[in-house]
Amino acid sequence: MKIGVLKETRPNEKRVAITPKITKDYINKGYEIFIERNAGLASSFSDEDYKNNGGKIVDKNTIFNDADVIVKINPLDDEEIAQLKKGQVVISMVYHRLHPETVKKIADKGATLFSMDAIPRISRAQNMDVLSSQSNLAGYKAVIIGADEMTKIFPLMMTAAGTITPAKVLIYGVGVAGLQAIATAKRLGAIVEATDVRPETKEQAESLGAKFITVEDKELENVSEGGYAKEVSKEFLEKQKQAVNKSLFDADLVVTTALVQGAKAPVLIKEEQIKQMKRGAVIVDMAVEKGGNVELSEPDKTIEKYGIKIIGKTNLPSTLATNASELYAKNLYNFITFMSDKEHFNFDLDEEITKGTLLAKDGEILVQS
Ligand code: NAI
Repeated sequence: MKIGVLKETRPNEKRVAITPKITKDYINKGYEIFIERNAGLASSFSDEDYKNNGGKIVDKNTIFNDADVIVKINPLDDEEIAQLKKGQVVISMVYHRLHPETVKKIADKGATLFSMDAIPRISRAQNMDVLSSQSNLAGYKAVIIGADEMTKIFPLMMTAAGTITPAKVLIYGVGVAGLQAIATAKRLGAIVEATDVRPETKEQAESLGAKFITVEDKELENVSEGGYAKEVSKEFLEKQKQAVNKSLFDADLVVTTALVQGAKAPVLIKEEQIKQMKRGAVIVDMAVEKGGNVELSEPDKTIEKYGIKIIGKTNLPSTLATNASELYAKNLYNFITFMSDKEHFNFDLDEEITKGTLLAKDGEILVQS
């Protein structure tokens, strides 16, 4: 089976779907790897590195003419879709609920489409879970960006000129990104508090040394589903606001990562709350692309209002392209070698990972958006 790796075309995207090291792993299993020229360069992987590991460097047309499987991180763009051939298999992130038109266009070409962002959150599929691996890195980077924008340091520092007290960091959402944000802020020496709606996250946050802000409510008894949170009521969000406000008004850095499956991100920090925060505080809204957890945040902008900086940076994993590509490539390798052998894919439509990720097969759309 020939796997073709496309160079990403999304602006500012530095990642690549297969790394030189993983190229070798595929070759050892009998697959052939074709890499578009310079596809790995922005992640610090040269064409030489791929060649040394058994990959073939080719141009884009050769990939569309010869590959059985085409892999990418971001969805194929329209020009790429136009080049697809009947029967080719495409694997990338798709976000099909937001972009049903991409699924349709690919299906119209008679191709098969798997979506890496639709990997189910089950233990068997953990090593294929690209959303988790990328969020982990993003949670780290959100704290680093926040620290860089702060005018204070994180750790306690005793000097001859006096003692500097540790920074106070508040994390909303203790999922994958939130847990890594807690761990990073703790490592840097901050005092960390965190809040989430899924009760099981209390223990996880505490095990990393954060103080958990609990909001008790009957509504939270059934809020968890498959590792994700369901939407909560307006009344609950108001109650949560009251419980967290004291910590919010006292925080030096706030990182928001709250996500509800299949819905817009919940707005947890409104303008009237921002007004009451400490001057010089920084907010990093990781959910900005999903609508934002913070009322004033905007994608890829830093807004300064009431003495507070509100950062809404998208595609944080791309800023850590080497590691992000390594993890994505390993997740993808685990997925492809689970779904196929060196000759063909086994489409077992009753199997949970296949059912979750196979959006279209030979031109037929299999998901409802
Ligand atoms: P996750 O699903 O693992 O975690 C989200 C957490 O938010 C869950 O624990 C959930 O229970 C919690 N939550 C839901 N409603 C809440 C509320 N009202 N208050 C407090 N917590 C609440 O998701 P993950 O992978 O950690 O991603 C978090 C967010 O970061 C997502 O919006 C994701 O799209 C975004 N993200 C952004 C990146 C960037 O480059 N800006 C990169 C990666 C992820």
